[in-house]
Amino acid sequence: MAKINSHYKDVSEGYFFLETTKRAKAFTDSHPGVELLKLGIGNTTEPIVPAVLEGLKRGVEKLGSAETYTGYGDEQGDTRLRGAIAEWYAGRKVSVEPAEVFVSDGAKPDCANISSIFSDESVVAIGDPVYPVYRDSNIIAGKRVVYMPALEENGFIPEPPREPRQGRGEHVDLIFLCSPNNPTGTVITREQLKTFVEYALEHKAIIVFDAAYSEYIRDAALPKSIYEIEGAKQCAIEIQSLSKAAGFTGVRLGWTIVPKELVAEDASTGTLNQMWNRRQTTMFNGASNIAQEGGLAVLSPEGQRQTHEQIDYYMENARIIREGLTKAGYTVFGGVHAPYIWLKCPSGLTSWQFFDQLLEKAHVIATPGSGFGDRGEGYMRVSAYGHRENIERAVRSISENMRV
Ligand SMILES: Cc1ncc(COP(=O)(O)O)c(C=O)c1O
Repeated sequence: MAKINSHYKDVSEGYFFLETTKRAKAFTDSHPGVELLKLGIGNTTEPIVPAVLEGLKRGVEKLGSAETYTGYGDEQGDTRLRGAIAEWYAGRKVSVEPAEVFVSDGAKPDCANISSIFSDESVVAIGDPVYPVYRDSNIIAGKRVVYMPALEENGFIPEPPREPRQGRGEHVDLIFLCSPNNPTGTVITREQLKTFVEYALEHKAIIVFDAAYSEYIRDAALPKSIYEIEGAKQCAIEIQSLSKAAGFTGVRLGWTIVPKELVAEDASTGTLNQMWNRRQTTMFNGASNIAQEGGLAVLSPEGQRQTHEQIDYYMENARIIREGLTKAGYTVFGGVHAPYIWLKCPSGLTSWQFFDQLLEKAHVIATPGSGFGDRGEGYMRVSAYGHRENIERAVRSISENMRV
């Protein structure tokens, strides 16, 4: 008789985000004609830039001619794209070989699937609060998850796990880091990242570094890639995405770097790279050839110029939100090198209490911080994705209709 994976019982049924939609719908049903201003969803809103659109069109046109048509490609990605990604890293003084690049259909599947190459006994450390995919995917896989608190006291940047011999905590095997961070909008510094790399090297742990928002970093002193830290290629996997860097949320393209130098307690150099290769060639059939042609255009000099200009647009939205909310008397964090602003709910309100007030008084939707982990309670994530006019209206509405 078939039996289900009982770990699914240990994760919620996506209740949280459904609940925000449910409450918003109940409000609009009882207030017909009221328009809600959305600062909640982390979804891109601006059209794909011309240089990248040309790349995508080229991808489509190639399919229409027998000379240029392609069917299945290499599961690891188009050779030209893997080379272009390696060169993109070289431009940042980071050395990556094309054979270490695995092109994917986005960061989310890779964040969820990567732990399949590690033992079921692995203890996995994740930030709290953080992008919920790390937590839920590891719980579904039956791994034990422990939390690294990201609090106001530590600037919302978690500290490396403490070893039992240090008096508390426990040894961990895998560490998921996300910088710039979703949801807190904060960025790890080079020195802070170095402490994680040192921990991983000392304890033969592996870091999974999610750099999906690296292109929002505006300060050259902040690390965009974990491989900017010496020794990281022996202990870190990096996951990237063009979703937020180029508006590919619907197009779908990303990549994962599994260095050949990467080692585990029972795996010498090259083994983990080969295992991820085995996993991808068995369970993934390659990213869309159209999307990959678009990806090549994103990485071209003109594509980089235009996509960075678009990111500047979202970052101007972030500035408007940050400054507007601060002026209105709120305490906010993040939003300087990331498209998310982390707002502290006033007067000790819970995330859901403040969600309801924002909805009822300002007609604004934001995301309750408690959905990203227990330590997100008492905060809201405010997203800078949106058309400028809507962002300005939402900030004005909060300032005029809410009292701190
Ligand atoms: C931290 C983080 N990683 C990964 C993703 C998903 O990226 P993709 O669209 O490439 O699957 C998101 C999307 O919101 C994210 O916030």
